[in-house]
Amino acid sequence: MTQLTLITGANRGMGFEIAKALGEHGQHILLGARNAQKGEAAAQTLRDQGMTVDAIQLDVTNHESITQAVAKVTADYGHLDILINNAGAAFDAHRAPSILDLATIQQDFEINYFGLVDVTQQFIPLLKQSPSAKIINVTSMMGSLSQALNPESEVFHASAVGYQSAKAAANMFTIQLAKEFQNTGVPITVNSVDPGVVATHFGGGDPEMAKSRGAKTPAEGAKRTIELALDDSKTTATFSNTNGIVPW
Ligand SMILES: NC(=O)c1ccc[n+]([C@@H]2O[C@H](COP(=O)([O-])OP(=O)(O)OC[C@H]3O[C@@H](n4cnc5c(N)ncnc54)[C@H](OP(=O)(O)O)[C@@H]3O)[C@@H](O)[C@H]2O)c1
Repeated sequence: MTQLTLITGANRGMGFEIAKALGEHGQHILLGARNAQKGEAAAQTLRDQGMTVDAIQLDVTNHESITQAVAKVTADYGHLDILINNAGAAFDAHRAPSILDLATIQQDFEINYFGLVDVTQQFIPLLKQSPSAKIINVTSMMGSLSQALNPESEVFHASAVGYQSAKAAANMFTIQLAKEFQNTGVPITVNSVDPGVVATHFGGGDPEMAKSRGAKTPAEGAKRTIELALDDSKTTATFSNTNGIVPW
């Protein structure tokens, strides 16, 4: 049966690449975008390439937008097989933890943690209508507590405490939700993915400059998420990238 897959923040960057790859594999894609016009344009690009793609307006920081998206998927399909929480952003601008203002940290948490949790909780009833569902949370190595303390890791030198804390919190949500489903016999897996350093417009960055410094292409950054979305195993409660398991 065709799998129905919702990807948040899929009008550009890695979300778009994930939508494209899973669409090419025959999944029916619900392309989430906070801006309906951008979402429709991205969906049309993929439909022109022969894929089954519907745009869906979804601002992960707006509860009403989420409940409207849930109502639409409920009315149109009555279930969801895969939820990919990809939308994310960083607002820290390399400011030190001692001076980074609370409003900025709250902004980091609104999208990367509270938004992810709200979208997930609202879509769980639809995921429960699937015989075997998946939740994939695109977090980041930047949220790894152990790598932040490892002088060999690039995360050791990072300074984005709001973004890093929000991604670490999202990883904890992955673990706790996966355990709840395991313990209660709910057939939904929950995993976190680290894409690596990827040349997108993420954080207001310049993709060309990032590429010249060795960042991956968006398609390469999307690879582990795509693998997990196509994986038939019941892997759950993991944090991984294309090299294998990432320490929490
Ligand atoms: N790039 C990296 O090096 C890197 C590394 C590790 C992890 N990640 C993670 O990978 C994920 C994808 O990042 P990316 O590099 O592809 O970023 P990107 O190119 O900046 O794309 C981010 C996407 O999220 C959307 N978005 C922003 N705010 C939103 C909201 N409130 N509701 C719904 N969608 C929203 C954006 O939509 P608009 O077009 O409307 O802004 C865009 O579609 C993020 O979770 C990020 O934290 C990225």
